[in-house]
Amino acid sequence: MSGHGVPVIGVLISGRGSNLQALIDAARDGRLAARIGVVISNVPEAAGLARAEAAGIETLVLPHQTAAGRAEYDVSLVDALRARGVSLVCLAGFMRVLGAGFCAAFPHAVLNIHPSLLPAFPGTHAPRQALAHGVRVSGATVHFVTPELDAGPIVIQGTVPVLDDDTEETLAARILEVEHRIYPEAVSRVLSGGWRIEGRRVVG
Ligand code: GAR
Repeated sequence: MSGHGVPVIGVLISGRGSNLQALIDAARDGRLAARIGVVISNVPEAAGLARAEAAGIETLVLPHQTAAGRAEYDVSLVDALRARGVSLVCLAGFMRVLGAGFCAAFPHAVLNIHPSLLPAFPGTHAPRQALAHGVRVSGATVHFVTPELDAGPIVIQGTVPVLDDDTEETLAARILEVEHRIYPEAVSRVLSGGWRIEGRRVVG
């Protein structure tokens, strides 16, 4: 929590930042009772950095190549987020695995959005995996981050049909629309409280 009682969100990105934009828009029009305090990218050229700057949000570039190792990199992220009073971390196209140390630093307070109906198709190129598998329905998942990749408790999922003539691009675009809808909803739900985690499930 910040000194003013409004939760501070930190968003981690690596690229385009369209999910970051969805969170910025939601915070701006009151759908999120929170302030985005910092946007951190591990990629200096990430287009999402300009979205944050346009919204007047502090940006930080922390290239992972400069860290001695994964644990050291995670510590630098944790330090930067804590220094800004962040209480909830949102991964938005952040293409780096966070270790157990990072997860322990923000218990039940790190969310990720993934372009599949987890536990199907974790990892990279999820829409490509869904097409190759021939599923008829896909979608997006917002989940808590745990040290196991794309496997934490699920907060919200949204579905889309997979069409016969879909390409990886058309399917990814259809899923992305769902992402932009459910990520602010999931963040809002988590911030509102009244839930608990039972095993793999988010209940309440
Ligand atoms: C989104 O589709 C997100 O779900 C995906 O990367 C894209 C980032 O787009 N994330 C993953 O695949 C994580 N495994 P964005 O930068 O425009 O938000």
